[in-house]
Amino acid sequence: MNQDIAVVIGANGAIGKAVLNEKLKHNTHVIAVSRTPVNVKHPYVTMYESDYSAQSIHTIAEQIGRIYPKISSITVCNGVLHTSDKMPEKRIESFDNDYFGTLLHVNTTIPFSWMQAFMPYLLSTEAPCVFTALSARIGSISDNKLGGWYSYRASKAALNMLFKTASVELARRKCNAKLMLFHPGTTDSELSKPFQNNVPQNKLFTPAFVAEQLNKFEKNREFNGEVDFIDWQGRTISW
Ligand SMILES: NC(=O)c1ccc[n+]([C@@H]2O[C@H](COP(=O)([O-])OP(=O)(O)OC[C@H]3O[C@@H](n4cnc5c(N)ncnc54)[C@H](OP(=O)(O)O)[C@@H]3O)[C@@H](O)[C@H]2O)c1
Repeated sequence: MNQDIAVVIGANGAIGKAVLNEKLKHNTHVIAVSRTPVNVKHPYVTMYESDYSAQSIHTIAEQIGRIYPKISSITVCNGVLHTSDKMPEKRIESFDNDYFGTLLHVNTTIPFSWMQAFMPYLLSTEAPCVFTALSARIGSISDNKLGGWYSYRASKAALNMLFKTASVELARRKCNAKLMLFHPGTTDSELSKPFQNNVPQNKLFTPAFVAEQLNKFEKNREFNGEVDFIDWQGRTISW
């Protein structure tokens, strides 16, 4: 059977779970990765638990590599904006090394480590593979008119730079891959909950809507190794 295989990482988040369900709607087999078991009973779901340490990421990618010769999409949905004791900074005085370290680890290092671990799929010329990370418009340096949210902005800007740099390398090497950085817009989730008050109702998206948009945009792209930084409408975001 020539069934599409998708990897969804961070599958217990609001957007991660919606991406998983969207893939199932299209009869795709989903390999779900999360810190905790995903509560979806479906014959097309295979679950891996990960603490997202470098060792766990590489072990899981190797295990997947031994079972599945082709993967059509890999989507990393991990991301942190606030922690139990820190909210995004409004002032320079609020910058905190530990909070910044946590955000850099989850928002930047973890997605890029998955790219590193899945390089065999990105370099395979057998089948096209799209590798997407959930980014955010706030990571755009040219779009930064409002300031604030230092750590989150910087972690997403760093993620974008890693992808842009990887795209230069991938475009040079022989590959059949597309990289995507996707800004979902403000989406109803634990991450956005403390900031939803000022968002007009029609601008607060459901995770299901965002996942549907993302799935649409993953199709019909040029698999040239380059990176697309796009929003929920499919519009390009400037770096
Ligand atoms: N919601 C929005 O308005 C919005 C806007 C712009 C961008 N985004 C981006 O969209 C992505 C998904 O966010 P969401 O709205 O779905 O948030 P969410 O429901 O709070 O989900 C959080 C995600 O991050 C992972 N995660 C949380 N803490 C972690 C930790 N300590 N270590 C490793 N992974 C951790 C979770 O993975 P597990 O499955 O392992 O728990 C889950 O995938 C993030 O990258 C976020 O920056 C969201």
